[in-house]
Amino acid sequence: MHILVTGGAGYIGSHTVVQLLHAGYEVIIVDNFSNSKPESIKRIQELAGKSVTFYEVDLLDTEALEKVFKAHTLEAVIHFAGLKAVGESVSIPIKYYHNNITGTLVLCELMKKYQVKKMVFSSSATVYGMHNVSPLTEDLPLSTTNPYGSTKMMIEQILQDIHVSDPSFSIALLRYFNPIGAHASGRIGEDPNGIPNNLMPYITQVAIGKREKLSIYGNDYNTHDGTGVRDYIHVEDLANGHLKALEKVITSPGIDAYNLGTGKGVSVLDVVHNFEKATGVTIPYTITPRRPGDIATCYADPSKALSALGWKAKKSLEDMCRDSWRWQTNNPNGYDV
Ligand code: NAD
Ligand code: WQD
Repeated sequence: MHILVTGGAGYIGSHTVVQLLHAGYEVIIVDNFSNSKPESIKRIQELAGKSVTFYEVDLLDTEALEKVFKAHTLEAVIHFAGLKAVGESVSIPIKYYHNNITGTLVLCELMKKYQVKKMVFSSSATVYGMHNVSPLTEDLPLSTTNPYGSTKMMIEQILQDIHVSDPSFSIALLRYFNPIGAHASGRIGEDPNGIPNNLMPYITQVAIGKREKLSIYGNDYNTHDGTGVRDYIHVEDLANGHLKALEKVITSPGIDAYNLGTGKGVSVLDVVHNFEKATGVTIPYTITPRRPGDIATCYADPSKALSALGWKAKKSLEDMCRDSWRWQTNNPNGYDV
């Protein structure tokens, strides 16, 4: 069965492709390397012991993407490709709307034309906006606080509308919480450009001596230790959620949203302490003012993914810390070899 994976060279895509190959799927990756490197494709194949078909194509390039649809009989699409930096999306919203929304529209148009009607889409817990009462369930009203989040909310709406127009489409909207960790081999992982925006890559860069200390954005939230609480999920568990969602869209039509999280709220200080315990490395930190747009608490109710997809996160916070650290130490410069 041939599965098209957009953004398959990226952080979550690469882990998912390795699992797809192990499960026996034939994988076709489309990526423009705007936030990834060809080296990741090489390592995906090395880990899986199998090859993938790869096209360096931008989703905005209809003609180039159509060649991919012409060349393969596709069963389904897993759609990761998108820009994802929240702060950057505030500075350059047009680029974010164009890349994420137009890219998705081009993809959907070709899916319709070539009768490929099954999709697993990378949405985000960001669509719950400033909703500050966790656990979060899929039926809550959606809202957003930045252009990146708005692209996810709008794409969910677009996919809903496509399904209304043609109910034979089958779509899973996966709302990821906070993915961290890396493949246990230390060969693939998250490779941020420049100063990391997210907590775990920042911690690993402090641990390896690239950054002096971690800034903890506020310790006066209404949480058990005053620091922000999130639902960190191992990227391998997250990747497995895509295989479960793929089975679902292949076997039954419909459109549904699923939270992919552990259901456990963990504070910034909990992450720091767990990282220190798992790795033996001390993380110097300072408390700084809150980051604009952050909320106190955000964690999933993941029970729908369990009942509808048979999926549950299995890995511990210690696993996440250990695997993030292995990736960082084995690849101090990411995929730049
Ligand atoms: P990533 O940046 O590592 O991967 C995205 C990939 O898409 C990259 O390889 C990039 O080069 C590619 N891409 C972007 N625009 C493209 C285009 N127009 N044409 C072709 N390729 C393009 O990000 P990730 O962390 O793996 O995230 C994957 C998806 O999951 C994204 O849609 C992201 O918004 C979503 N998501 C991520 C997180 C997170 O914290 N990492 C959380 C929730 C949702
Ligand atoms: C986690 C916690 C920070 C960095 C973001 C996106 C979200 C989704 C996942 C894509 C918060 C604190 C962080 C630092 C810190 N991505 N922190 N010092 O903000 O929960 O979610 O990534 O869809 O849309 O918004 O993740 O890792 O940035 O922050 O104290 O240097 O760590 O305040 O409490 P966030 P994060």
